[in-house]
Amino acid sequence: MGEYVRLLVLNGSPRTGGNTDLLVQSALNAIDRHSHRVDLFRLNDMNIRPCQNCGGCTDTGVCVIEDRMQQIYPALRQADRIILASPIYFFGLSAQTKAMIDRCQPLWCEKYIHNMPIQTATHRKGLLVLVGGMKKQIGADCSAATATAFFRSVSIEEHKTLTFLGIDAKGAIRSHPTALQDVYEAAKILTVH
Ligand SMILES: Cc1cc2nc3c(=O)[nH]c(=O)nc-3n(C[C@H](O)[C@H](O)[C@H](O)COP(=O)(O)O)c2cc1C
Repeated sequence: MGEYVRLLVLNGSPRTGGNTDLLVQSALNAIDRHSHRVDLFRLNDMNIRPCQNCGGCTDTGVCVIEDRMQQIYPALRQADRIILASPIYFFGLSAQTKAMIDRCQPLWCEKYIHNMPIQTATHRKGLLVLVGGMKKQIGADCSAATATAFFRSVSIEEHKTLTFLGIDAKGAIRSHPTALQDVYEAAKILTVH
């Protein structure tokens, strides 16, 4: 790794002070700021257009849409570690998260059409954090499947997943016996090892 570890954190919840937000904060509390550079993006605050399937990236690996996603591309390429956190909506990732993921099609093209996966000095690793109001597992499974496709496309071959179900009201995650600590510890392991 370089002089510091680059951590990219992608928060896909629109709810400020909500459950995903609190979990992301707990993860960030685990990060040693002297040895890490953190890029935190609140996707809901960013203008990220959905992929238009225009084919513009097929040959070039570059997205033609000029919006805030252009800030995320370099962070995605340079990250040593990525934390993706999203609430579960309609058995899937939030629209904010999914729009960002779909815009990773240029990286998918680079990796799978041009055989040029992102190369970094480190073995890139990830952490997926999901929160759902229901206790049904299907929302977590569908979300995790999409997130796995995302991680693979951006050349994160290994990631852990933490899922918290039955957490619905804003801030209800505080009443979970272990969630904040679980995410803190997972973020520590992700960034130290
Ligand atoms: C549009 C919408 C759809 C939702 N769909 C689901 C769902 O399919 N499964 C589930 O477990 N929870 C669902 N929920 C509940 C949220 O996942 C839950 O409130 C979560 O705690 C929100 O996290 P946040 O506080 O980080 O935004 C939905 C909530 C909204 C607003």
